[in-house]
Amino acid sequence: MDFKERYGRYALITGASAGIGKEFAYILAEKGLDLILVARREDTLKEISSDIEKKNKVECLVIKKDLTEENSYKELFDLTQKFDIGLLVNNAGFGYYGRFINQNEDKLKDMLKLNVLTFSMLTRVFADYFVKKGRGGMVLVSSLAAFQPTAGMAQYGATKGFELQLGEALSEEIKGKNVDITILCPGATVTEFQITAEGVPHNGMDAKKVAMCAVNNLGRKIISIPGWQNKITGKLHRFLPRSFVRWATAKALSHYLKD
Ligand SMILES: NC(=O)c1ccc[n+]([C@@H]2O[C@H](COP(=O)([O-])OP(=O)(O)OC[C@H]3O[C@@H](n4cnc5c(N)ncnc54)[C@H](OP(=O)(O)O)[C@@H]3O)[C@@H](O)[C@H]2O)c1
Repeated sequence: MDFKERYGRYALITGASAGIGKEFAYILAEKGLDLILVARREDTLKEISSDIEKKNKVECLVIKKDLTEENSYKELFDLTQKFDIGLLVNNAGFGYYGRFINQNEDKLKDMLKLNVLTFSMLTRVFADYFVKKGRGGMVLVSSLAAFQPTAGMAQYGATKGFELQLGEALSEEIKGKNVDITILCPGATVTEFQITAEGVPHNGMDAKKVAMCAVNNLGRKIISIPGWQNKITGKLHRFLPRSFVRWATAKALSHYLKD
């Protein structure tokens, strides 16, 4: 069965107006899937959508939605029920550098709403939908930050750890139901992430390569870590004392722990 037969007709992508989510949109359109793109910046989504439709023979719809809003996951699910969705890319999320006790409370709460509450509930309703349908795929975008405590972006790392654990556990719970899950755990990737996270610009992987890693692994691997250096980092923590891992991560992010 080819990719389109397995995961078509529509892919629903959250956080598709920039970065990794936008690259998912281009890759999945090239595979022939029709798309529903979700984010807050409607004009940007519309520009991406018309470019995708110009370059591919697919339909590309957009939904403007702030996924920090309560029940936004439910509204999104209800809105998309009339489409034959075969793939969810649960990607929208943001980071925030700094010392936890000094960070802005509202921004921290928004992170919990987006990276934890909406992420979890959207995963849940679509997992149920795919299981009942007997077919589907889910790409859950977590991070390399999921594998260890991340002093300097403490709550962000914790939300990503939550996403990884949830995705792994769910993959066991729905094993044999013909629903594929891969949890994408990127390291530093060149996107708008650093701006939103109030970090200094960082070098990193190309967002297209990162998205491609998950698309290639869907149905093959539960955890997708793009790039060999990231793969090593993602495994290293298992062989090192936890106290060292905590210290080394705080050291790497010490720039954000000065105040
Ligand atoms: N870049 C990295 O180094 C890196 C590393 C590991 C993991 N990740 C993960 O990758 C995912 C994508 O991040 P990215 O790097 O591609 O960042 P990005 O370029 O900043 O893109 C984030 C996307 O999420 C959307 N979004 C943010 N807040 C939203 C909200 N309240 N409601 C709806 N959509 C919202 C943004 O759209 P609008 O602003 O238009 O709403 C945008 O489309 C995140 O889950 C992030 O944690 C990134």
